Amino acid sequence: MSDDDDDWGDEPDRTSDTEIRVAKVPLTTGKVATFRFRRDGEPFSGFIVIGRDGRPRAWVNRCPHVPYPLDFGDGEVLDHDGVTIVCANHGARFEPDHGRCIWGPARGRGLEPLPLADDGDAWIVTITPEPPGWPYDG
Ligand code: FES
Repeated sequence: MSDDDDDWGDEPDRTSDTEIRVAKVPLTTGKVATFRFRRDGEPFSGFIVIGRDGRPRAWVNRCPHVPYPLDFGDGEVLDHDGVTIVCANHGARFEPDHGRCIWGPARGRGLEPLPLADDGDAWIVTITPEPPGWPYDG
């Protein structure tokens, strides 16, 4: 499946070499804002969800168990409760506030966060270098 065949949409505009602008959508329980980006020429996807504390957070769509996307290309990264992040591959569950795996084969590891800022009608996501040694213990 190519990147264009899934539900993650087009790569958004870059505001600089290290920032992308993601159009805001109303984020409530069960809602996800998805985006694409490139890092070192490699295509990635990411998503923004609301944490249990009501704050949005951005995560790289890559599981720390095996570095596959969390979803099967459908943008479905939330568990039935609409809050907990889930990996469709082997069922690992992650807390949306800090990204740590709380159940499943990625336990002890965490999702990779991306810095997120609110720019009024958009979120600005900073594309940071891949953390050395990722996946690391979360
Ligand atoms: S690849 Fe995510 S739980 Fe195995």
